[in-house]
Amino acid sequence: MTDTLPIARSVRELRTYVARWRNQNLTVGFAPTMGALHDGHLDLIRALKGRCDRTIASIFVNPKQFAAHEDLDRYPRDEAGDAAKLASAGCDLLYAPPREVMYPDGHSTSVSVAGVSEPLEGEARPHFFGGVATVVTKLLLQCLPDVAAFGEKDYQQLLVVKRMVRDLDMPVEIMGVPTTREADGLAMSSRNAYLSPEERIVAARLNVILREAVEQLESGANIMTTLVKIERQIFKAGFSEIDYVAIRGEDDFLPIASPIVRRPARLLVAVRAGETRLIDNMAVGAMRP
Ligand code: PAF
Repeated sequence: MTDTLPIARSVRELRTYVARWRNQNLTVGFAPTMGALHDGHLDLIRALKGRCDRTIASIFVNPKQFAAHEDLDRYPRDEAGDAAKLASAGCDLLYAPPREVMYPDGHSTSVSVAGVSEPLEGEARPHFFGGVATVVTKLLLQCLPDVAAFGEKDYQQLLVVKRMVRDLDMPVEIMGVPTTREADGLAMSSRNAYLSPEERIVAARLNVILREAVEQLESGANIMTTLVKIERQIFKAGFSEIDYVAIRGEDDFLPIASPIVRRPARLLVAVRAGETRLIDNMAVGAMRP
């Protein structure tokens, strides 16, 4: 295994690698990222390696998915460190296009996905899914992989991408990869680096609160009562703000109308520890009989 891996910076270079592999009848897996890689990103590569002959990761901090007041400028960047991590996970190619490759002067097309992108994250960050859908469309068309991997940590994003790929007949399979967690249960995220030591302790409570709630919901607890209880526990744990605590259908992302969970669902939260926004979610199985 090598410590360095090739880096493509242009669409032409990327396509040259992919074409060479295709000529050898090899399948290609792709993991789009914004860098500042952690074990969760490497799990995307590992999952792809179980499915495809060659794997590509992209790193592009996409300005279109940040609002003016958000953390675009201070988003952590470490390309050399990221490349070494990808190489050690067995990734075959890093695609790291500069901004002018992704958004040349005059770029004026954007992609929007109605419905699934509108609630929760869509309300809290109205610019976000338009930016994600546009950049993911470009990355998928530039690379044309067989399979592309997205973390379940950004569960709504995963559903938005699946819907977009289906609606636009993009010839790629979207694979969801389970959330990778720290030893204390905190979902891995590049933004965890912003947490102070005190906030980091608070952040770990989220996992405990969600796990307990899932157990109660699967035992038939009332949805509304449980959501209110979670909110109370989140503030008690020391979080500074809640954007949402919600339950939605696992595939259609519609609100659950019944008082208890009767079909596979997701419990989703967005909160702040200090200034840092954290999101997490967990699967809720239908109530056990
Ligand atoms: O999940 C992310 O890191 C980003 O939203 C993605 C999918 C790489 C698009 O910029």
